[in-house]
Amino acid sequence: MTEQVEIKEGLDGVYITRSTICKVDGQQGKLYYRGYKIEDLAEKSSYEEVCFLLLYGKLPNKTELEDFNKKLKGERKISENLKMLIKGFSTANTLDVLRTAMSAISYDDNQPYSADETENIEKAIRIISKTPTIAAAIGRLKQGKEIIEPDDSLGHAENFLYMLIGSKPDKEKSKLMDVMFILHAEHSSNASTFATLVACSTLADIYAGVTAGMAALKGPLHGGADEAAIRMMREIGNPENTETYIEEALAGKRKIMGFGHRVYKTYDPRARILKTYLDKIKANSGEEINNFISISLRAEKMMIEKLGKSHGIWPNVDFFSGPLYLYLGIRIELFDTVFASARTVGWCSHVIEYWKNNKLFRPLEEYIGELDLGYTPIEERT
Ligand code: CMC
Repeated sequence: MTEQVEIKEGLDGVYITRSTICKVDGQQGKLYYRGYKIEDLAEKSSYEEVCFLLLYGKLPNKTELEDFNKKLKGERKISENLKMLIKGFSTANTLDVLRTAMSAISYDDNQPYSADETENIEKAIRIISKTPTIAAAIGRLKQGKEIIEPDDSLGHAENFLYMLIGSKPDKEKSKLMDVMFILHAEHSSNASTFATLVACSTLADIYAGVTAGMAALKGPLHGGADEAAIRMMREIGNPENTETYIEEALAGKRKIMGFGHRVYKTYDPRARILKTYLDKIKANSGEEINNFISISLRAEKMMIEKLGKSHGIWPNVDFFSGPLYLYLGIRIELFDTVFASARTVGWCSHVIEYWKNNKLFRPLEEYIGELDLGYTPIEERT
């Protein structure tokens, strides 16, 4: 007789650890990094400060932030070997190239694995700093342009835009890029963070963990959702078509990307923040982006009416990201790569925390296949 087991599909509702890094309140639609409200951080903080907060567990004072910034800037450059590797794959999927480059970063580290927290924070800083440089280089090469070196006079997010676009962004764009980085920095034990923890629970090094995180981020149910959402908006084309498109999609049991969440059963607070920026960019956006803004607002209204309160399916962070990325000059193929660049700090912070009390992840599966079959030699098989 087989034993009775309960299967939690997709680990729905399963707690895997205790953490002080991030609280997602899916019922109230609230998000906290180390106890601080995401709204406050998006408005008043910077990505660099948020990185410090996530890694060290407290907001930095002035001197600490200056020192931390120095360290981040000191790690921005990437090696010639890495540039050659990226150049060799410039036609491949951008997140695939970033993931491959992440593996390669570890080759420049004499000791990729360390059990020491201070050393792992140094490695995390290296990963957080170099990833946007790699992402920007991939973006440049995709357009047949030269790689641009980092500019130390610029902050983390604006430097990323500068390396990608080739000119220094104005204050408004720098702030928006910074907000995008902050909102994507961390989100508790989502699929990619869990993948990172699974890899590192074997005591594989932090680079291996982040590489695993990037692999899990790729799909349209996770980090690929913003790309899928904007492609849907492109398919809709004219804002007037929005309602019919959504109606038909739902009738055909197709998901509307950028909506729904395993934890949030109400409006994702990150989406709420991003929505406020749609208004701010409208006056300076071209026709295509303004069309996307109109489509997204109409789709949001209709989805909330149809599936919001009744099914708990609300906009998530990926729904409004697309028009904002495009406004910043970030092309569709780079969306998930930017997401990954921002999330490196979340992945690393979780690994460092988890290693304080490491336990190998090794869940079970219920075997429902046959047993004790007779082995037939190949010549006798029909
Ligand atoms: N549009 C239409 N129906 C949906 C949607 C959606 N976006 N999301 C869920 N549903 C329906 C789904 O069809 C299913 O219906 P039924 O019970 O009739 O079969 C029900 O809701 C439950 O869906 P599920 O996919 O089993 O539930 P989940 O908890 O695994 O869903 C999710 C989480 C994010 C995978 C899902 O909402 C989804 O696929 N959303 C679209 C992709 C997306 O936007 N992902 C980004 C998530 S936020 C950023 C990040 O962390 O990456």
